[in-house]
Amino acid sequence: MKAIIFGKSGQLANELLATKPNSYSAKCFGRNDIDLLNVQNVEALLQTETPDVIINASAYTLVDKAETDTEAAYSLNELAVKNLAVLSQKHNIRLIHVSTDFVFDGAKSQSYKPSDETNPKSIYGKSKLAGELAIQELHPDNSVIIRTSWVYSSFGNNFVKTMLKLMNDRDELGIVVDQIGCPTYAKELAYFIWALSEEADINAIYHWSDLGVTSWYDFACAIYEKGTKLGLITSSTSIKPIPSSSYPTPAERPKFSLLNTDDSQAIYLAKHWQIQLDKCLKELTST
Ligand SMILES: NC(=O)c1ccc[n+]([C@@H]2O[C@H](COP(=O)([O-])OP(=O)(O)OC[C@H]3O[C@@H](n4cnc5c(N)ncnc54)[C@H](OP(=O)(O)O)[C@@H]3O)[C@@H](O)[C@H]2O)c1
Repeated sequence: MKAIIFGKSGQLANELLATKPNSYSAKCFGRNDIDLLNVQNVEALLQTETPDVIINASAYTLVDKAETDTEAAYSLNELAVKNLAVLSQKHNIRLIHVSTDFVFDGAKSQSYKPSDETNPKSIYGKSKLAGELAIQELHPDNSVIIRTSWVYSSFGNNFVKTMLKLMNDRDELGIVVDQIGCPTYAKELAYFIWALSEEADINAIYHWSDLGVTSWYDFACAIYEKGTKLGLITSSTSIKPIPSSSYPTPAERPKFSLLNTDDSQAIYLAKHWQIQLDKCLKELTST
């Protein structure tokens, strides 16, 4: 099987390459290789590469910047996705697309099922939902949308790597305690995506995160404890729980965005977020 992956320099694209099964050949493309808004160029690429599956891991992921950089967010999160949907429908290519917990408003107190009503509060969430709707409309029979949350990896920029740096640099940190969800180790998401790509029938929405539930504050405390044991943090920091109101951001985030991953567990078994955090931190000790 032949896969092509968009979003070459991102966390997920790197983990997809690192976890690729032997039964696949895979090539990654980034914005320097191809402009996803240019339909003719994307079509030419698909005709040259003749993939069986496209995995779209590219996205405008700057959640706060998207509030003012709206056009750029919609360009990549909706228009580029529309192009991929049209072309993969035309050339009979399976399309696997990654979306976000930010399509929900966070008003629930039980985990969000794939069928739950969406109501994004941020431009990022709205633009990602627009991408989802485009795929469902334009390529409904051989596509899948995977919503995930709080993604981190040893590649790229993310909360875990930011915390390690801040914990080494600062004596005190205030971390938001009233946003609840679950982290996702991008490597495990990548394994899930490869498993899903081999399923016969995937025209659905799936949810994926690691198992368990936590707040950003508790996640930070775990990073501190585990990172210190592994020698990634060498100074002491006091971590204080703070309410979201003390850390205002341009984009509104869902207060509760735990994803219900029951359907996904039938395809690939997730593990607890603490186990996955251990794995990522161990990987970081050797980089
Ligand atoms: N990070 C999270 O916490 C999180 C949470 C929920 C869902 N997700 C979703 O998971 C997927 C993968 O996320 P990720 O964390 O791996 O993202 P990431 O590390 O930010 O990578 C996204 C990649 O998209 C490409 N890209 C970004 N802006 C672009 C632009 N303006 N034009 C063209 N290409 C651009 C870049 O790759 P190139 O420069 O190589 O093209 C970038 O590395 C995305 O769909 C995201 O929405 C992420």
